[in-house]
Amino acid sequence: MKLFTSSIIAAAAASLVQACTINIRVARDSTVAYNGIMCDNNIPCNSIPFGLKNDLLTFKGNRDYERVLLGFDLPTTKPISKCLLKIPTPIEVATTGEYTLTATVTDNKWNETAVTGANKDIGGTQIGSVNIVAGQKPGSIDVTSACKNAKDDKLSLFVDTSFPMVRFNSIQSGSPAIFSLDITY
Ligand SMILES: *[C@@H]1O[C@H](CO)[C@@H](O)[C@H](O)[C@H]1NC(C)=O
Repeated sequence: MKLFTSSIIAAAAASLVQACTINIRVARDSTVAYNGIMCDNNIPCNSIPFGLKNDLLTFKGNRDYERVLLGFDLPTTKPISKCLLKIPTPIEVATTGEYTLTATVTDNKWNETAVTGANKDIGGTQIGSVNIVAGQKPGSIDVTSACKNAKDDKLSLFVDTSFPMVRFNSIQSGSPAIFSLDITY
């Protein structure tokens, strides 16, 4: 009986260790325009930095194209066993149906005050996607391999919509409902 009890305690302790998940909020975020269209005052949209705005936008129209760009500072704690990109509830979605958000790992050579479509390489590796029904709480995208392979404990991700315009709160909005990572050790 004693042995039985202590093995239960050991199992409970082990599961407590496994259950260590922390939430890391995005450290830098921006809308990046990768289109050839003009914004106000005939300025090319892809030369305008949007990083200090209160919102983030992704949209795929005929000519228009915006992506959300996210930068995370990861804790130095290793090893990471699981890493999920948690999608906040959008503040606007231009559909009542279903849409897909895709995450792509990209380089960390950008900053929030200056990043534009003209100075940020669009390249990257798609890592996962999530289907969302407009009006319902979005889920998350498994980005475990990206967190494990992060260079200098930094991780940059593009978030791309399949078609409709989707708008989120940015860091500058002051809202708690912004992009974050659930990291499990
Ligand atoms: C921010 O990014 C811009 C555009 O890539 C670059 O010119 C600038 O030097 C960067 N600033 C800092 C402080 O890294």
